[in-house]
Formats: sequence, C-alpha cells, structure tokens
Amino acid sequence: IEYCLCNKPLKNKRVLITAGPTQEAIDPVRYITNHSSGKMGYALAKRAFELGAKVTLITGPTNLDFPYGVKVIQIKSASEMFETVKSKYQKQDYIIKAAAVGDYRVKEIAQDKIKKKDDILQLELIKNDDILAYLGQHKTDQIICGFAMETKNLIDHAKEKFIKKNCDLLVANNLNEPGAGFKNDTNKVTFIAKDKIQQIELMTKNNLSDLILKELIKIKEEKHVN
Ligand code: CTP
Ligand code: CA
Repeated sequence: IEYCLCNKPLKNKRVLITAGPTQEAIDPVRYITNHSSGKMGYALAKRAFELGAKVTLITGPTNLDFPYGVKVIQIKSASEMFETVKSKYQKQDYIIKAAAVGDYRVKEIAQDKIKKKDDILQLELIKNDDILAYLGQHKTDQIICGFAMETKNLIDHAKEKFIKKNCDLLVANNLNEPGAGFKNDTNKVTFIAKDKIQQIELMTKNNLSDLILKELIKIKEEKHVN
C-alpha cells in the first residue's frame, strides 16, 4: 500500500503511540516484563510521521533505533507509562496503544538486592491501572486504538476488550497464528470495530501500520460526518 508522497492525510494531526514492554522492578537488579520487541509500535510511529503527523512515541526498553522525526519518551514501568500518557492524551487526535503493558507490579520493591535463601520465594503483586481503559473513559474527540494478545478464543476475548475499554479500533493478535505476535516482522491480526470484524491477511508490520492508520483515519472521518 503506497501513498503519493505529496498526500499527507495526517498533516497537522497529533498521534500518540505506546510501544514495547514495561519493566516492573523487583529489587535493584531484577524485574518482571512481557515479551515485546516494540516493532509494531515503532512501525506505526514511522508510518504516522511519513503520513504527516506530529508523533510522540512513549516506549519501554527495546533494541530498536528510534524512528526519524518522532518525539520519543522512554519509560520503564507501567506506572511511568500511565503518568506520561495522562500528561499527553488530551491534545492528541489519535492514540495507539501497541505496548505490552505489565498487568501487575511488585507491591513493595526491595531497597536492597534480595538474597537467595529459601527454596520458595513469594512475591506479592498488585494490579496496574489499565491505561487503555482510562483513555476510553476520558476521551473527548480522540480516536483510540488498542491491541489485544490472545492464545485462544481470540474473537470473544477481543470483542470483550473492545467494549470494556471503549476503543474505536481493536487490533487482535493470535499468538498461535504462524507469522503473528512479538517474535516476527510480520503480523496476522483481526480488526474489531463498532460494526465489523475483519480478518486481515498476513503482512509485514510496516504494511500493517499503513492499514491500521488508514482505518483510524476512516473512523475519524465517519465520526465527524455522523
Ligand atoms: N493495556 C493498557 N494498560 C494495562 C494493560 C493493558 O493500556 N495495564 C492495553 C494494552 O496496551 C493493549 C490492550 O490494553 O492495547 C489489551 O492488552 P491485553 O494485555 O491484551 O489485555 P488485558 O486487558 O490486559 O487483559 P489480559 O492480559 O488479561 O488478556
Ligand atoms: Ca494484559
């Protein structure tokens, strides 16, 4: 999918993207994290910039080079991501939550390195705030795009998330599909929107970024007509 370079459908639009994993500290030397390369979010940031947007990328730790032309804010924990999103979301036209956010954090981070002792070590975890659900509750005109990662019952789970989090588009990943998920440069997803469920063919994360952004532009246009 190629646009003419002179055609900038996101000109003067602000796009906020979260990407990568979060890290929840256990002690000064250890953390809990999720599998996430950041590739999907970085590809979206790159494409949004190419389409003319002012792009802010809030990213957890990844091995990727920062995309050209994009304002990058680096965070580690889900709470840091949440605080940063809260300080930025009101001015955005589009918000895309591609990050693999940690669902739980360690209740009390140890000041000193935890020493190896008993055979069993128990950690107490506490639930993190759901950033996407917060955006769904507080949005005004922003178009909100969430992701979902599932290993079974993809459509049911994704539909539930779409409704619960009040998204405009939910991009659902089935980790068990060949070519999908965090390990790959490709992805195979299903779009869940208000009145449709659309299976998208396997494609590169670059091409999928273009498709997602086009879908979001369409949703915004339709909202303003109606
Ligand atoms: N998400 C978020 N804040 C969290 C957890 C998730 O913003 N604390 C966002 C993710 O960035 C993603 C979407 O919610 O866009 C769905 O994430 P996912 O992990 O698939 O769903 P959860 O609601 O966390 O449910 P579960 O992990 O139990 O399937
Ligand atoms: Ca989760």
